[in-house]
Amino acid sequence: MPFLCAHVSGRSMHQIESITMANKNLGKAKTEKNDEFYTQYADIQQEMNAYIEYNPDVFRDKTILLPCDDPEWSNFTKFFAQNFEQYGIRRLISTSYAPESKKIKAWQPTLFETENPHFDADKSKTHGKIFVLDRDTNGNGKIDIEDLQWDYLEGDGDFRSAEVRALRDEADIIITNPPFSLFREFMAWIMEAQKKFVIIGNQNAVSYKEVFPYIKNNKLWLGKGFKGGAAHFISNYEDTATAGNHVDGMIRVSGVVWFTNIDHGRRHQPLDLMTMEDNIMFSKHKEIKGKGYIHYENYDAIEVPYSDAIPVDYEGIMGVPKTFMDKYCPEQFEIIGIAEGDSGKELGLKPFPRELKKLNPSLRDGQLYYIDADGIPQKPYARILIRKRTQQ
Ligand SMILES: C[S@@+](CC[C@H](N)C(=O)[O-])C[C@H]1O[C@@H](n2cnc3c(N)ncnc32)[C@H](O)[C@@H]1O
Repeated sequence: MPFLCAHVSGRSMHQIESITMANKNLGKAKTEKNDEFYTQYADIQQEMNAYIEYNPDVFRDKTILLPCDDPEWSNFTKFFAQNFEQYGIRRLISTSYAPESKKIKAWQPTLFETENPHFDADKSKTHGKIFVLDRDTNGNGKIDIEDLQWDYLEGDGDFRSAEVRALRDEADIIITNPPFSLFREFMAWIMEAQKKFVIIGNQNAVSYKEVFPYIKNNKLWLGKGFKGGAAHFISNYEDTATAGNHVDGMIRVSGVVWFTNIDHGRRHQPLDLMTMEDNIMFSKHKEIKGKGYIHYENYDAIEVPYSDAIPVDYEGIMGVPKTFMDKYCPEQFEIIGIAEGDSGKELGLKPFPRELKKLNPSLRDGQLYYIDADGIPQKPYARILIRKRTQQ
C-alpha cells in the first residue's frame, strides 16, 4: 500500500491527465456499449408470448412500429415478420439508425444492402432505413420476411426526427429495445403519443419522473420479464460478467426489465404471502424472523426489505424495494408513492432532526429513515410505498 501511494503521488501531471482520460473513456465506452447491444430472439418470443397468451388478438389488425432497430442485425423485425400472419398484423414498420450517427463507428454494409438494386454508398452511411411488411410481394402465397421492402429514410432515423415521429403517430403499438442512454427521452416520446408499447429498460427507471407517475396510476407496468432479472444481449463488446455467466458474443446486463402498457397474466397473479405473525415466526430473512417490522421515524409505514416478506394482513402503508414492481398485482396492492427526493417530500415525509446528522451524515430530507437496534438512524434503499387493496 505505501508503495502504491508513493507511486501514484510520484506521477507527473501528464500521467495523471492520461489516467483521467482513460477513466473518462471507460465511462464513455460503457454508455456506447449500452446503446449497441441486440436482443435475443428467444427473449422477444418469451415476452410476446405472455401478451398473446393473455389476449390472442393483441396484435390483430395493428400497425406495429419497431424504431431504433436494425433488421439486418436485430431480431425484433425477424420475430414479427415470422409471426406476421399468425398474429394477424396489418402492417409492420421498422426503422434503423444511420451508421454515422451511431456512437460506435465500426460498421460495414451487409450484403443484403449492397446487393440490392437501390443500394447507395453515401446514403448507406448517413441515412437511416425503413423496412415495411404489409403484403405478399413475391407472390409465393404467404407474407413473411422475404416480403420485407426497404428504402433509405430522408434523415438518419433518429426517433426524434419528424419522419420517425410521423411513423410513430401512424402506429398502434411500438416495440423495441431503445438506446439506454436516451431511455428517458424515448419513454416521454412514447407517452406523449399515447400508444401501446413494449420496451426494454433498466429496472432503476421505475423511479424516473418520466415513468413513476404512470406506474402509480396503472398506466404503465412491468412485462413478464427476463429470467432472474438479467439477460444476455448480442454484443461485440467484452463482457465484464463473472465467468460463470459468460456467453461468447454476448454481454450480460442485470436489472433489465420490459416496460409496457399491454396486459398480461403474471400481472394479475397475487403474491402468495404469509401473515405478519407467521413472518415473524418463520421468515427466511434474519431481519424479520423473531424481530418483526421496523416502523419509519418520519412516515407512518413499516419497512419491508423483501417482497416475499410483505405481511398479507397488514392494513397500513409498507415500504418495499423497487424489485417489488415485477411482482406487483394491482388487484392485491395499491401504490401510494415513491420515497425519493421531491416525490418523498410530496408524500409528506417529515424532515429529519438536524442533530441526527452527526450519527448518520447520509440522511436526506425526502427519504425514509428508521432508528436501528443500536440507536443509529438508518436510511433504507429507495422504497416504493404500497398498501393492501381493500376489496370493493
Ligand atoms: C440497445 S440497441 C437495440 C437494437 C435493437 N432494437 C435490438 O434490441 O436488437 C439500441 C439501438 O438504437 C440506436 N440508436 C441510438 N440512438 C438513436 C436515436 N437517437 N434514434 C434512433 N436509434 C438510435 C443504436 O444505434 C442501437 O442500434
